[in-house]
Amino acid sequence: MARVNNKKDSKKIGKFDFKDKKVLITIITVVLIAVLLIGLCFLKSKEDNAKSGFSIVGTDSKIEVTGLKIETASVSLEVEGEAQLNIVVEPLEATDKSLSFVSTDGNVALVDASGKIKGIDPGNCQIKVTSNSNNSIVGEVAVEVKAKAPAIVNSGGLTYINGMLVVNKSYALPASYNPGASSEAMNSFYAMQSAAANEGISLFIVSGFRSYNTQASLYNGYVASYGQAAADTFSARPGHSEHQSGLAFDINAADSSFAGTPEAVWLANNSYKFGFIIRYPQGKESITGYMYEPWHIRYIGVGNASAVYSSGLTLEEYWGVDSSYK
Ligand code: DAL
Ligand code: ZN
Repeated sequence: MARVNNKKDSKKIGKFDFKDKKVLITIITVVLIAVLLIGLCFLKSKEDNAKSGFSIVGTDSKIEVTGLKIETASVSLEVEGEAQLNIVVEPLEATDKSLSFVSTDGNVALVDASGKIKGIDPGNCQIKVTSNSNNSIVGEVAVEVKAKAPAIVNSGGLTYINGMLVVNKSYALPASYNPGASSEAMNSFYAMQSAAANEGISLFIVSGFRSYNTQASLYNGYVASYGQAAADTFSARPGHSEHQSGLAFDINAADSSFAGTPEAVWLANNSYKFGFIIRYPQGKESITGYMYEPWHIRYIGVGNASAVYSSGLTLEEYWGVDSSYK
Protein backbone atom coordinates (compact mmCIF):
# COMPACT_ATOMS: atom_id res chain seq x y z
CA MET A 1 0.00 0.00 0.00
CA ALA A 2 2.73 2.17 0.98
CA ARG A 3 4.34 1.50 -2.36
CA VAL A 4 1.14 2.15 -4.21
CA ASN A 5 0.70 5.29 -2.23
CA ASN A 6 4.25 6.18 -2.97
CA LYS A 7 3.68 5.45 -6.63
CA LYS A 8 0.51 7.41 -6.56
CA ASP A 9 2.35 10.34 -4.84
CA SER A 10 5.22 10.25 -7.31
CA LYS A 11 2.78 10.18 -10.22
CA LYS A 12 0.97 13.12 -8.70
CA ILE A 13 4.21 14.97 -8.23
CA GLY A 14 5.16 14.25 -11.81
CA LYS A 15 1.83 15.68 -13.02
CA PHE A 16 2.28 18.74 -10.95
CA ASP A 17 5.85 19.25 -12.25
CA PHE A 18 4.53 19.32 -15.80
CA LYS A 19 1.82 21.88 -15.06
CA ASP A 20 4.22 24.08 -12.95
CA LYS A 21 6.72 24.18 -15.80
CA LYS A 22 4.09 25.66 -18.14
CA VAL A 23 3.07 28.23 -15.53
CA LEU A 24 6.70 29.01 -14.82
CA ILE A 25 7.54 29.49 -18.49
CA THR A 26 4.51 31.80 -18.89
CA ILE A 27 5.52 33.82 -15.82
CA ILE A 28 9.13 34.08 -17.02
CA THR A 29 8.00 35.16 -20.50
CA VAL A 30 5.66 37.84 -19.06
CA VAL A 31 8.40 39.08 -16.73
CA LEU A 32 10.96 39.18 -19.57
CA ILE A 33 8.57 41.15 -21.82
CA ALA A 34 7.80 43.56 -18.93
CA VAL A 35 11.50 44.07 -18.20
CA LEU A 36 12.16 44.62 -21.89
CA LEU A 37 9.34 47.19 -22.16
CA ILE A 38 10.47 49.06 -19.00
CA GLY A 39 14.03 49.06 -20.32
CA LEU A 40 12.94 50.44 -23.67
CA CYS A 41 10.88 53.17 -21.98
CA PHE A 42 13.85 54.14 -19.78
CA LEU A 43 16.19 54.37 -22.76
CA LYS A 44 13.66 56.44 -24.70
CA SER A 45 13.21 58.86 -21.82
CA LYS A 46 17.00 59.26 -21.43
CA GLU A 47 17.29 60.00 -25.12
CA ASP A 48 14.52 62.64 -24.91
CA ASN A 49 16.18 64.25 -21.93
CA ALA A 50 19.51 64.35 -23.72
CA LYS A 51 17.84 66.07 -26.69
CA SER A 52 16.21 68.77 -24.48
CA GLY A 53 19.58 69.58 -22.94
CA PHE A 54 19.17 68.57 -19.35
CA SER A 55 19.95 65.48 -17.42
CA ILE A 56 18.15 63.75 -14.67
CA VAL A 57 20.02 63.38 -11.44
CA GLY A 58 17.84 61.16 -9.37
CA THR A 59 14.40 62.84 -9.35
CA ASP A 60 15.80 66.42 -8.81
CA SER A 61 15.70 68.15 -12.25
CA LYS A 62 16.81 71.79 -12.60
CA ILE A 63 16.80 73.95 -15.71
CA GLU A 64 19.58 76.56 -15.55
CA VAL A 65 19.19 80.22 -16.60
CA THR A 66 21.33 80.77 -19.70
CA GLY A 67 20.64 84.39 -20.59
CA LEU A 68 18.65 87.62 -20.16
CA LYS A 69 16.87 89.48 -22.93
CA ILE A 70 16.69 93.10 -21.79
CA GLU A 71 13.86 94.72 -23.71
CA THR A 72 14.45 98.12 -22.09
CA ALA A 73 18.16 98.71 -22.85
CA SER A 74 17.91 102.33 -21.77
CA VAL A 75 15.39 104.27 -19.74
CA SER A 76 14.75 108.00 -19.64
CA LEU A 77 12.52 109.38 -16.93
CA GLU A 78 11.86 112.51 -14.91
CA VAL A 79 12.61 113.15 -11.27
CA GLU A 80 9.91 111.27 -9.29
CA GLY A 81 8.92 109.45 -12.49
CA GLU A 82 8.74 105.63 -12.62
CA ALA A 83 9.59 103.04 -15.27
CA GLN A 84 9.23 99.26 -15.28
CA LEU A 85 12.10 97.17 -16.62
CA ASN A 86 11.11 94.44 -19.07
CA ILE A 87 13.47 91.49 -18.92
CA VAL A 88 12.92 88.03 -20.39
CA VAL A 89 14.84 85.25 -18.61
CA GLU A 90 16.03 82.49 -20.93
CA PRO A 91 15.17 79.68 -21.33
CA LEU A 92 11.50 80.21 -20.59
CA GLU A 93 11.45 76.81 -18.75
CA ALA A 94 14.26 77.85 -16.36
CA THR A 95 13.58 76.60 -12.85
CA ASP A 96 14.44 79.81 -10.97
CA LYS A 97 13.86 82.88 -13.09
CA SER A 98 14.10 85.37 -10.21
CA LEU A 99 16.35 88.42 -10.65
CA SER A 100 18.14 90.96 -8.46
CA PHE A 101 18.32 94.67 -9.37
CA VAL A 102 20.88 97.18 -8.12
CA SER A 103 21.32 100.87 -9.02
CA THR A 104 24.89 102.14 -9.46
CA ASP A 105 23.83 105.53 -8.07
CA GLY A 106 20.94 105.72 -5.62
CA ASN A 107 21.12 109.53 -5.71
CA VAL A 108 20.03 109.43 -9.35
CA ALA A 109 17.64 106.45 -9.49
CA LEU A 110 16.42 103.64 -7.25
CA VAL A 111 15.13 100.23 -8.29
CA ASP A 112 12.90 97.82 -6.36
CA ALA A 113 12.86 94.00 -6.31
CA SER A 114 10.41 93.87 -9.22
CA GLY A 115 12.60 96.02 -11.49
CA LYS A 116 10.60 99.23 -11.08
CA ILE A 117 12.90 102.28 -11.39
CA LYS A 118 12.23 105.61 -9.71
CA GLY A 119 13.96 108.88 -10.68
CA ILE A 120 15.50 110.70 -7.71
CA ASP A 121 17.68 113.53 -9.09
CA PRO A 122 18.85 114.55 -12.57
CA GLY A 123 21.82 112.52 -13.81
CA ASN A 124 22.84 109.18 -15.31
CA CYS A 125 23.40 105.75 -13.78
CA GLN A 126 22.97 102.04 -14.56
CA ILE A 127 20.71 99.34 -13.20
CA LYS A 128 22.60 96.03 -12.89
CA VAL A 129 20.46 92.91 -13.27
CA THR A 130 21.62 89.50 -12.02
CA SER A 131 19.98 86.07 -12.17
CA ASN A 132 19.57 84.78 -8.60
CA SER A 133 20.14 81.16 -9.63
CA ASN A 134 23.13 81.85 -11.89
CA ASN A 135 25.07 84.96 -10.95
CA SER A 136 27.22 84.76 -14.04
CA ILE A 137 24.15 85.88 -15.98
CA VAL A 138 24.08 89.68 -15.70
CA GLY A 139 22.64 92.62 -17.63
CA GLU A 140 22.76 96.38 -17.54
CA VAL A 141 20.24 99.13 -18.26
CA ALA A 142 21.34 102.76 -18.79
CA VAL A 143 19.16 105.24 -16.90
CA GLU A 144 18.85 108.96 -17.54
CA VAL A 145 16.91 111.05 -15.04
CA LYS A 146 15.83 114.44 -16.29
CA ALA A 147 14.59 117.45 -14.33
CA LYS A 148 10.84 117.51 -13.88
CA ALA A 149 9.12 119.38 -16.71
CA PRO A 150 8.27 122.74 -15.19
CA ALA A 151 4.68 123.78 -14.83
CA ILE A 152 3.97 126.50 -17.39
CA VAL A 153 1.34 128.88 -16.04
CA ASN A 154 -0.44 131.42 -18.20
CA SER A 155 -2.01 134.29 -16.32
CA GLY A 156 -3.58 137.26 -18.11
CA GLY A 157 -1.45 136.69 -21.22
CA LEU A 158 1.79 136.39 -19.17
CA THR A 159 3.69 133.11 -19.05
CA TYR A 160 5.40 131.94 -15.87
CA ILE A 161 7.64 128.93 -15.22
CA ASN A 162 8.29 128.15 -11.58
CA GLY A 163 7.19 131.70 -10.76
CA MET A 164 9.54 133.32 -13.31
CA LEU A 165 8.07 135.50 -16.05
CA VAL A 166 9.06 134.09 -19.45
CA VAL A 167 9.75 136.54 -22.27
CA ASN A 168 11.46 135.38 -25.45
CA LYS A 169 10.70 134.75 -29.13
CA SER A 170 8.21 132.01 -28.21
CA TYR A 171 6.48 133.79 -25.33
CA ALA A 172 5.29 137.38 -25.69
CA LEU A 173 3.94 140.03 -23.35
CA PRO A 174 0.59 141.68 -24.11
CA ALA A 175 0.99 145.09 -25.80
CA SER A 176 -0.88 146.61 -22.87
CA TYR A 177 1.61 145.24 -20.28
CA ASN A 178 3.35 148.38 -19.06
CA PRO A 179 4.64 147.82 -15.52
CA GLY A 180 7.66 150.20 -15.54
CA ALA A 181 10.94 149.09 -14.00
CA SER A 182 10.54 146.50 -11.23
CA SER A 183 11.43 148.14 -7.90
CA GLU A 184 12.81 144.80 -6.63
CA ALA A 185 15.08 144.52 -9.67
CA MET A 186 16.12 148.19 -9.36
CA ASN A 187 16.99 147.82 -5.66
CA SER A 188 19.04 144.69 -6.46
CA PHE A 189 20.83 146.61 -9.17
CA TYR A 190 21.71 149.41 -6.72
CA ALA A 191 23.06 146.87 -4.22
CA MET A 192 25.13 145.31 -6.99
CA GLN A 193 26.29 148.72 -8.20
CA SER A 194 27.64 149.63 -4.77
CA ALA A 195 29.29 146.20 -4.27
CA ALA A 196 30.97 146.59 -7.65
CA ALA A 197 32.04 150.16 -6.83
CA ASN A 198 33.79 148.82 -3.71
CA GLU A 199 35.91 146.76 -6.07
CA GLY A 200 36.59 149.67 -8.42
CA ILE A 201 33.97 148.57 -10.96
CA SER A 202 31.56 151.17 -12.27
CA LEU A 203 28.17 149.90 -13.41
CA PHE A 204 25.24 151.96 -14.72
CA ILE A 205 22.05 151.31 -16.63
CA VAL A 206 21.95 152.57 -20.23
CA SER A 207 18.56 151.06 -21.06
CA GLY A 208 16.04 149.78 -18.53
CA PHE A 209 12.27 149.53 -18.91
CA ARG A 210 10.99 149.94 -22.46
CA SER A 211 7.29 150.07 -23.30
CA TYR A 212 5.77 148.02 -26.15
CA ASN A 213 5.71 151.15 -28.32
CA THR A 214 9.32 152.10 -27.55
CA GLN A 215 10.41 148.57 -28.50
CA ALA A 216 8.33 148.76 -31.70
CA SER A 217 10.13 151.97 -32.78
CA LEU A 218 13.55 150.52 -31.95
CA TYR A 219 12.92 147.23 -33.72
CA ASN A 220 11.35 148.85 -36.79
CA GLY A 221 14.35 151.20 -37.06
CA TYR A 222 16.75 148.21 -37.05
CA VAL A 223 14.63 146.39 -39.64
CA ALA A 224 14.73 149.47 -41.87
CA SER A 225 18.52 149.72 -41.52
CA TYR A 226 19.61 146.07 -41.55
CA GLY A 227 16.65 144.01 -42.78
CA GLN A 228 14.39 141.82 -40.63
CA ALA A 229 16.57 138.70 -40.57
CA ALA A 230 19.56 140.62 -39.18
CA ALA A 231 17.42 142.71 -36.80
CA ASP A 232 15.90 139.53 -35.35
CA THR A 233 19.35 138.39 -34.19
CA PHE A 234 19.83 141.34 -31.80
CA SER A 235 16.52 143.15 -31.33
CA ALA A 236 13.25 141.70 -30.02
CA ARG A 237 10.02 142.20 -31.89
CA PRO A 238 7.54 144.35 -29.95
CA GLY A 239 5.93 142.28 -27.17
CA HIS A 240 8.95 139.92 -27.09
CA SER A 241 11.50 142.15 -25.32
CA GLU A 242 12.48 141.47 -21.71
CA HIS A 243 12.89 145.23 -21.37
CA GLN A 244 9.08 145.50 -21.48
CA SER A 245 8.93 143.29 -18.38
CA GLY A 246 10.81 145.85 -16.25
CA LEU A 247 13.18 143.04 -15.20
CA ALA A 248 16.00 143.55 -17.75
CA PHE A 249 18.71 146.20 -17.93
CA ASP A 250 21.50 146.98 -20.36
CA ILE A 251 24.70 147.85 -18.49
CA ASN A 252 27.30 150.46 -19.47
CA ALA A 253 27.27 149.99 -23.27
CA ALA A 254 24.81 148.01 -25.36
CA ASP A 255 27.33 147.10 -28.02
CA SER A 256 30.28 144.82 -28.64
CA SER A 257 32.73 147.36 -27.09
CA PHE A 258 31.52 146.13 -23.67
CA ALA A 259 32.66 142.51 -24.21
CA GLY A 260 35.79 141.59 -22.28
CA THR A 261 35.93 144.81 -20.20
CA PRO A 262 36.59 144.46 -16.44
CA GLU A 263 32.94 145.52 -15.93
CA ALA A 264 31.66 142.79 -18.27
CA VAL A 265 33.86 140.19 -16.55
CA TRP A 266 32.73 141.36 -13.09
CA LEU A 267 29.07 141.23 -14.19
CA ALA A 268 29.45 137.69 -15.57
CA ASN A 269 31.11 136.47 -12.37
CA ASN A 270 29.06 138.30 -9.73
CA SER A 271 25.64 139.41 -10.97
CA TYR A 272 24.00 136.12 -9.91
CA LYS A 273 24.72 137.05 -6.26
CA PHE A 274 22.28 139.93 -6.74
CA GLY A 275 19.65 137.92 -8.65
CA PHE A 276 20.75 138.70 -12.23
CA ILE A 277 21.93 136.49 -15.06
CA ILE A 278 23.68 137.26 -18.35
CA ARG A 279 20.62 136.45 -20.42
CA TYR A 280 22.18 135.89 -23.86
CA PRO A 281 25.52 134.10 -23.35
CA GLN A 282 28.19 133.49 -25.96
CA GLY A 283 27.81 130.26 -27.93
CA LYS A 284 24.11 129.89 -27.06
CA GLU A 285 22.74 132.01 -29.88
CA SER A 286 20.75 129.14 -31.39
CA ILE A 287 19.08 128.50 -28.03
CA THR A 288 18.27 132.02 -26.85
CA GLY A 289 17.63 133.27 -30.38
CA TYR A 290 19.98 136.26 -29.89
CA MET A 291 23.62 137.12 -30.41
CA TYR A 292 25.92 137.37 -27.38
CA GLU A 293 24.92 140.35 -25.21
CA PRO A 294 27.31 140.62 -22.23
CA TRP A 295 25.53 143.83 -21.18
CA HIS A 296 21.93 142.53 -20.99
CA ILE A 297 21.08 141.27 -17.50
CA ARG A 298 17.76 139.77 -16.42
CA TYR A 299 16.52 139.73 -12.83
CA ILE A 300 15.14 136.36 -11.63
CA GLY A 301 15.93 136.56 -7.89
CA VAL A 302 19.02 135.38 -6.01
CA GLY A 303 17.90 131.73 -5.59
CA ASN A 304 17.02 131.23 -9.26
CA ALA A 305 20.04 133.19 -10.52
CA SER A 306 22.44 131.14 -8.37
CA ALA A 307 20.90 127.90 -9.68
CA VAL A 308 21.02 129.04 -13.32
CA TYR A 309 24.59 130.37 -12.90
CA SER A 310 25.89 127.11 -11.45
CA SER A 311 24.01 125.00 -14.02
CA GLY A 312 25.79 126.83 -16.86
CA LEU A 313 22.50 126.74 -18.76
CA THR A 314 20.57 129.45 -20.54
CA LEU A 315 17.14 130.27 -19.15
CA GLU A 316 15.57 128.43 -22.08
CA GLU A 317 17.53 125.27 -21.24
CA TYR A 318 16.84 125.71 -17.55
CA TRP A 319 13.12 126.04 -18.20
CA GLY A 320 13.03 123.45 -20.98
CA VAL A 321 11.43 125.82 -23.52
CA ASP A 322 12.49 127.12 -26.93
CA SER A 323 12.82 130.62 -28.30
CA SER A 324 11.54 131.01 -31.85
CA TYR A 325 8.90 133.06 -33.60
CA LYS A 326 5.97 130.87 -34.59
N1 DAL B 1 18.31 143.17 -27.34
C1 DAL B 1 17.28 142.37 -26.74
C2 DAL B 1 17.21 141.01 -27.37
C3 DAL B 1 15.95 143.06 -26.81
O1 DAL B 1 15.72 143.73 -27.82
O2 DAL B 1 15.16 142.90 -25.92
ZN1 ZN C 1 18.85 144.48 -23.36
